Amino acid sequence: MTADSSRCSSFRPGEVWKDTDGNVIQAHGGQVQKLIIRNDSGEDSYKWVWIGEDKTNGYRGGVCMYSSDDLYNWQFKGVVMRNVPSRDSLDTDEYFKKLYAGYSSDELDNVALSLSAERAVIERPKVIYSPKNDNYVLWFHADGPTPESDSNYAAACAGVAISKTPFGPYKFIDRYRLNICPPDQEDKYPKSRGMARDMNLFTDVDGSAYIIYSSEENLTLYISRLNDDYTYLAMKPEEAVYGKDFIRLFPGAQREAPALFLRNGKYYLMSSGCTGWAPNQARYYVADSVMGEWTSKKDPCIGDTKKTTFDSQSTCIFHEPESDTWIYMGDRWFSEALHDSRYIWLPLKFRDNGDMELSFVSEWKLKEDK
Ligand code: DGJ
Repeated sequence: MTADSSRCSSFRPGEVWKDTDGNVIQAHGGQVQKLIIRNDSGEDSYKWVWIGEDKTNGYRGGVCMYSSDDLYNWQFKGVVMRNVPSRDSLDTDEYFKKLYAGYSSDELDNVALSLSAERAVIERPKVIYSPKNDNYVLWFHADGPTPESDSNYAAACAGVAISKTPFGPYKFIDRYRLNICPPDQEDKYPKSRGMARDMNLFTDVDGSAYIIYSSEENLTLYISRLNDDYTYLAMKPEEAVYGKDFIRLFPGAQREAPALFLRNGKYYLMSSGCTGWAPNQARYYVADSVMGEWTSKKDPCIGDTKKTTFDSQSTCIFHEPESDTWIYMGDRWFSEALHDSRYIWLPLKFRDNGDMELSFVSEWKLKEDK
């Protein structure tokens, strides 16, 4: 933020970041990507789009979106997937009535449960454009208590919602348990199968899309291929073929907060350990294809004396082409004041051999970090 105006002209990791209306940005556990946006006159242009968790009211909330031309200044585009205040509101509130017109009573019950403002946990939303249906598909960690357990993380599902336009409203479709450990491998948590918690999406150069997520009670990361409209798995869990439709990564390693990207033909996967809202040491992996083999490369941080990823947890890594900058996006969670959690965006460096390095800078600009 410059001293004499409210416009931002640099990144200041960990400082309060306000949108162009002067409100603190609510896009935690988020993702940034460039999308084609059609304006009211029907003209198309590229915009940066940031989606993330709305923590205005603390732990529970919906999903917000922002847009930007320069990555520094963000315009609020609204709460694109709203929490549902009550089952009744789906029958009485005009916004929900319009969005869910045609849903059966059972389907509405499921919307009320999965997006409940009182009970649901909605985390790490990520959006992907589907060329097949010319729509936008939102995946998120859809959690909350179940009839069997009061834990906020009992459901352990991946939720899906769709919208015709990038900025919503996103209509919730369903939430799912995902792939399960094959019988010839050791399931690290056999008592609850197909769990899906921290998650991310990745679209490969051939258009195949993948969901990357913590499973087996956060003990094992999975990568599962999505179907061709990106709204469900490529194959149902009962039919999925190990190595083709999904893989398990580092069983028992307890990794979460995955962020997968492709650079110079090499696939990188950044992750954190599992320590609730407290930051911990990052680790990354590399592979020659999404389905592996993945090799562990350890912690990319340089000078991170506390070994806490500079007090942050990964959520997305993306490329800014004009300055050729790879940007690490992390969350610095404040568990006692989640609404005030901060964003840690840092430029990544790559050595000639492809090794990734992350250093902390308190202020930086895209052009300076070429
Ligand atoms: C760590 C996860 O990465 C966050 O998204 C959130 O689920 C917290 N745990 C909750 O403790």
